Amino acid sequence: MSKDTLNITDNRTGKSYEIPIQNGNIRAMDLRQIKVTDDEFGMMSYDPAFMNTASCKSKITFIDGDKGILRYRGYSIEQLAEKCTYLEVAYMILHGELPTRAQLDDWVWNITHHTMIHESIKTFMDGFRYDAHPMGILVGTVGALSTFYPDAKRVLNQESRKKQIQRLVAKMPTLAAFAYRHSLGLPYVYPDNDLSYTGNFLSMLFKMAETKYRPNPVLENALDVLFILHVDHEQNCSANAMRNVGSSQVDPYSAVAAATAALYGPLHGGANEAVLVMLKEIGSKDRIPEFIKKVKAGEGRLMGFGHRVYKNYDPRARIIKRLAEQVFEVTGMNPMLDMAVELERIALQDDYFVKRKLYPNVDFYSGIIYQAMGFPVDIFPVLFAIPRTSGWMAQWEEMLLDPEQKIARPRQVYVGHGLRDVAPIEKRR
Ligand code: CMC
Repeated sequence: MSKDTLNITDNRTGKSYEIPIQNGNIRAMDLRQIKVTDDEFGMMSYDPAFMNTASCKSKITFIDGDKGILRYRGYSIEQLAEKCTYLEVAYMILHGELPTRAQLDDWVWNITHHTMIHESIKTFMDGFRYDAHPMGILVGTVGALSTFYPDAKRVLNQESRKKQIQRLVAKMPTLAAFAYRHSLGLPYVYPDNDLSYTGNFLSMLFKMAETKYRPNPVLENALDVLFILHVDHEQNCSANAMRNVGSSQVDPYSAVAAATAALYGPLHGGANEAVLVMLKEIGSKDRIPEFIKKVKAGEGRLMGFGHRVYKNYDPRARIIKRLAEQVFEVTGMNPMLDMAVELERIALQDDYFVKRKLYPNVDFYSGIIYQAMGFPVDIFPVLFAIPRTSGWMAQWEEMLLDPEQKIARPRQVYVGHGLRDVAPIEKRR
């Protein structure tokens, strides 16, 4: 009869251990009993970059990387993108269930009425250099919000958490838009409560002298879909930063600043920006083979390709590719798309990429749409951070409410010197 255990024999001692298996996995702590002598620490598993370590149990996002499946709370990303708005999905990711009409109305009203930021944040923003990267400004200003809401430190209080979640989901677009306007030296545009979440964001970004900004409905909807696709992606680098930093029970604004910083890197949310830079550098279709050759020789990466979890086409990239057609009908074709499609075609036929299961990820096409919609390249990661905030908050709250979680504190394998004496300075070499 099969048993849900794993037998381990330590050949150093000949001792055997029976380790329980739960949900197909063993607990790393069950390895600690394996030791040669009583006074040693006990065995750990060594796993740099968490390649095979689950850091939590989660009910939020399911990914099957081999099959290219992504679901939030059991709903497929394809259905959510087709049938819901971003705020509906944000509610669902945070509350576990899709909202009823009344719940949605209440949620949308609350988010809409928390979009303003304190005037001092504007002054704070003015302190950044004229050419500051909007993502750097976002990291700084979202962290600074913690000083405006001292009640946020009561992270174990449900009412306080609810309030901060609403504030963060509501204020991230305002911070992001103000960061963008600052980088252009343009006056800030205050939120417009008549508009949708994405419509208002577009207004805060692009409104000039007109009395009322009216977003193009196709672009407003496209941005809403893009936001849905970016809500959550289970234990990625920034979600892990959110949980890790949040596990110290710091306020959520400080933890979101850490998550935003993690997202800023070119291997994570900075990749969509890096794709555009790469396409610009390649310059024309005839130079693609030469570029691919360099990538294969280890001179740089094909940005927007490859994923730690997906070993198949990223389902988000598929939706974005379709969305691109609708956007380009309004904006006109982005010549970068032609190059990206050709780059994808060549890479997907090349043994190097096939063998390593490297496919386009979410960032490969998103930047091309963003650019066609008029967003400058350095705001791309900011467009990722806004919708990801709801995912970060869901991960944060799940972590706080999980009785098995504690302050995150990995172990290390020390490989440095043993004890040695401090030599006088004149005798050091
Ligand atoms: N171009 C060329 N080679 C690649 C690429 C790429 N984009 N990605 C992975 N490889 C190669 C890598 O060199 C390695 O080859 P070898 O086995 O010969 O050493 C092999 O594939 C495995 O790569 P890895 O670096 O061990 O894989 P990882 O899981 O640590 O990295 C990744 C995942 C996303 C960081 C990586 O694929 C990458 O750098 N991609 C480009 C950046 C990018 O598009 N990032 C966005 C990710 S999706 C959105 C998000 O998470 O924010």
